[in-house]
This record gives sequence, structure tokens and C-alpha cells, in this order.
Amino acid sequence: MLSSFTECKECLEDRQLAVLPTETVYGLAANGIERYAVEKIFKTKGRPAGNPLILHIFDITEAEKLAEVNDMARLLARRFWPGPLTIILPKKKIVPSEVSASLNTVGLRSPSNYLFRKMLDELGFPLAAPSANPTNRTSPTTALQVMKMFGQKCPPVLDGGQTSLGIESTVLDLTTANPTILRPGHISLQEIENCLSCKIELRKNFADLTDFPHKSPGNSPRHYAPKTLTRLHASIEKCIKCDLVEPDDLVLVASKKEADFFKDADCTAWYLSQTGNPSEVAHALFRKLHEADEQAFSKIHLCLLTQKDDLALAINDRITRACGQLHKQ
Ligand code: TXA
Ligand code: MG
Repeated sequence: MLSSFTECKECLEDRQLAVLPTETVYGLAANGIERYAVEKIFKTKGRPAGNPLILHIFDITEAEKLAEVNDMARLLARRFWPGPLTIILPKKKIVPSEVSASLNTVGLRSPSNYLFRKMLDELGFPLAAPSANPTNRTSPTTALQVMKMFGQKCPPVLDGGQTSLGIESTVLDLTTANPTILRPGHISLQEIENCLSCKIELRKNFADLTDFPHKSPGNSPRHYAPKTLTRLHASIEKCIKCDLVEPDDLVLVASKKEADFFKDADCTAWYLSQTGNPSEVAHALFRKLHEADEQAFSKIHLCLLTQKDDLALAINDRITRACGQLHKQ
């Protein structure tokens, strides 16, 4: 149900859930230092207790109360907060073990969305907030998608329109020998290296395309997945040449030019951006996957982007997971 700012605020103060917009995707929020409130997030999402939550905070001053903040974290916060960067740090006792899934670390992020910030400011406590989708479904970029996915069970939703970035934050672990990107996103490896002047690692199983197709998908392969069956293609060329695209199928490609390749085919072809620009592709990807799920397509075909920049890497990570090809997380 769509609710006002005040109604959502009252729910959060009352240790209940509320769905709030961020600049990346909508978040299913609860008081992040109240065990009882955090448990509701896991229950509503159907999230395994072993998957930790991010705490959303107003600024770096808040971070000091929750985690052992170091100089790297301060530099990153100054450069990228508020914004789509989550930093993993050693946690302090005040963070409930439910949030950190019993790890001794916690993920912190200061979102830039105006409504989310206003909420943090007025509440005065951190908000735990995973993406507001049932576990293993596509992350939501509009309020309507959230309400459709949760149905009767849906907590109050604050509508902030379509999210501006469209894919989740970069997750950077500062507790490893070299800082390590656990999940690629809009803030790139290069930008982080420039900020910290040190080498940044990328966790291997994130969109490691050299080992495509992945032989051994792990525990939770279908992450970000639509309900419709999805099929992954290593490139648009391979998709065109394969004989797996059938008349009731949707081919979801990056640019109009790529969609035009399917003009004479029986299938439906949608594109994510007129020119294939990665920011536009990221912005539209989850929305189009949700839209596709509303239609009766037999299959959705997705093709990896061929660009080599970090945002393309992040998009390929989400596309690969939507097709159930990657493990972990
Ligand atoms: O953009 C975003 O990050 C969105 C918005 C709502 O802020 N949130 C989001 O949360 O994507 P979630 O829970 O869907 O994804 C957080 C990811 C998970 O893969 C989780 O395993 C990882 O971050 N994570 C959280 N805390 C961690 C920790 N202490 N150590 C390692 N990974 C962690
Ligand atoms: Mg998520």
C-alpha cells in the first residue's frame, strides 16, 4: 500500500517495516539496531539468515557508532557519500548479530535519495535495508513493482518514482588485505583505486566472463531472477546465430540497433537504451525485466554487454545472475 512519509516514519519508529526509495533500488527498511525489527526483514523477504544486511546511515559520524572506521573509509565517504557505495568494516557491539549474519563485520552506506535521507535525519537511527524484493526475485526500481511482488504482505511503501541508477550499490570490503569489491556497481574499481591510491581486488566469481558458461552454479544461482525462464547468451552475435529463440520469446538487448537485428524474426525484441549507453541500460534493466514478467513470454533472452568498462561489468553481473548462472550472494 502506498503510504505517506509520516505513516512510514511512524511504522519505522514502531519497529515495523516500510519500503523506501534509494537512488539504486527500493529498500525494505527497519530499525537497524533493533533485533526484533530486523528479524521482520528476513521473514518478509524469505531471506536466509546467513545473508547480512546493509545499514543505511546519514553520514560518516553515524558510521563511527556502528563500526571501526579507518582512514580508507573516511576518504571513501568524503569522496562517494552520499551515494551508491557500501563499505564493509569491523562491526561494533551495538549492531545486532542478525544484521551481520553473525559475521564480525557490517556493511554501511549513506544513500543520496532525498526522501531516504530525510527519513534517516528525522529518525536518528540507522536503517537496515536490503533490496525490497522477495529473495531471488528481481530488485525493484518502482513502488508498483514492490507492491506487485509482495501482494497482501506488502509493508507501507513510500513512492519516490523510478530510482535514478537502477542497479544496487558497489559493495567494497575494507577488512581484506587489499580492499575487495564484492559486488560491482556504479562506483567503479578505477574510481576507488584513484581515491585510495592502492590496488583494489575484484572478487573472482563476480561476472568473471572468462569462465562463461559457468560450470558449477552454487547455492543461490537464480538471483535477480524474473519468474519467466531466462536464457543467457555470451554476445548478441551468438544469440542471433543460435536456434533457441522461438516466436513466444522476448529478446532483451542493450540498443535499438541490436533490437533491429530481430526485425524479421518471429520473436519480440525490446531494447534498454536507444544507443546502448551503459548508464541507461542499468537504469532500465530491472524495470524491463519486471515488465517482461507481466507478459506471457515463454522465455527471456539476455545477452552480455561487450563493453569493458566497470558499469558494463556490473550490468553483466546482474544479467548473468538473472539467468541463474552465477553463484554466491
Ligand atoms: O543499493 C543497495 O545496496 C540496495 C539499497 C536498498 O541500498 N541494497 C541492497 O541490499 O542491495 P541487499 O541486501 O539486497 O544486498 C546487499 C549485499 C548482499 O549481497 C550481502 O550479502 C552483502 O551486500 N553484504 C552485506 N553486509 C555484508 C558483510 N558484512 N559482509 C559481506 N557482504 C555483505
Ligand atoms: Mg538484493
